[in-house]
Amino acid sequence: MKHVYTLSDLRDPAFATEMPKAKLAVIGYPIKHSASPQMHQAALDEAGIDLQYIRVEVEPGKVDECFTEMERLGFVGCNVTVPHKLEAMALCDEVTDDAKALGATNTIHFKDGKRSGHNTDGPGLAQAILEDFGKSLTELRILILGAGGGAGRAIATQCAREGSPRIYLSNRTVEKLEPIAKSLTDDYGAKLVYTLSNDSEALTIAASRVDLIINSTSLGLKEEDSLPIPAEALNGSLMIYDAIYNPAVTPLLADANKIGAKTSNGLSMLLHQGAISFEFWLGQRPSVEAMRKGLGK
Ligand code: ATR
Repeated sequence: MKHVYTLSDLRDPAFATEMPKAKLAVIGYPIKHSASPQMHQAALDEAGIDLQYIRVEVEPGKVDECFTEMERLGFVGCNVTVPHKLEAMALCDEVTDDAKALGATNTIHFKDGKRSGHNTDGPGLAQAILEDFGKSLTELRILILGAGGGAGRAIATQCAREGSPRIYLSNRTVEKLEPIAKSLTDDYGAKLVYTLSNDSEALTIAASRVDLIINSTSLGLKEEDSLPIPAEALNGSLMIYDAIYNPAVTPLLADANKIGAKTSNGLSMLLHQGAISFEFWLGQRPSVEAMRKGLGK
């Protein structure tokens, strides 16, 4: 088995005979770092489902060809990651309400000659927050850092869909926030939506008015990164969720731990979005514990 397959590999007549059990995959560009295969394979093995989950590198613009090959090979479905989530959605015959709301698909099910698209990122976040903090997004006032990025926008949309009573959107490039705030208000009826830049003073005020802060900026991935919010803005009664899971404890979470805030990282979102995808394809809940072990966490 290869670490990464390509569209040419799928087209090769040898593929069907050499990889007869490969019926699930994650596609992206690049894709070699994806942890989804080990997570899903562990759940498949645990459930006694004799299928293989592989990585397929697909160039932008080639997603349709990839889906056609997968359908020919009898794939059950695939996960879709950066940069294909929009391209994939446009190629679906039907999409779920979650996909419609988030404007993208990260999960495709090939069934009865149809391509069905779903987005498990939003529901995965909701479940992660519920399990990690024992609270539903519905009851939490939330500050989203990096709300103008792709992940941040999805998180903000999910919060509005769940009816979060107050949503603060922050982004370095503040201009990106206006259309997002408008969509939360017009499309999801969010009543109290505020936009702010990432300047310290504005963040400090917002942090004092919320229950939960979610970091969806990329700050914290690299050691030399600055904090996405000044440490002085945090207080011990906050819940802090960092969408980053590698490193497991970002400087933000380390600071939050020091002052006694409740913290969690993006591993739970990764796990739950994966579990919801698994159920979408196979009609049964996977073992989230097996998935966690598969990731080596
Ligand atoms: P995307 O999710 O759209 O692919 P990204 O480049 O990964 O984008 O960035 C995700 C988020 O991190 C964005 O909100 C980005 O802010 P901008 O919209 O202003 O680019 C934020 N971000 C990245 N680097 C940052 C930095 N050095 N300081 C503050 N925010 C940063």
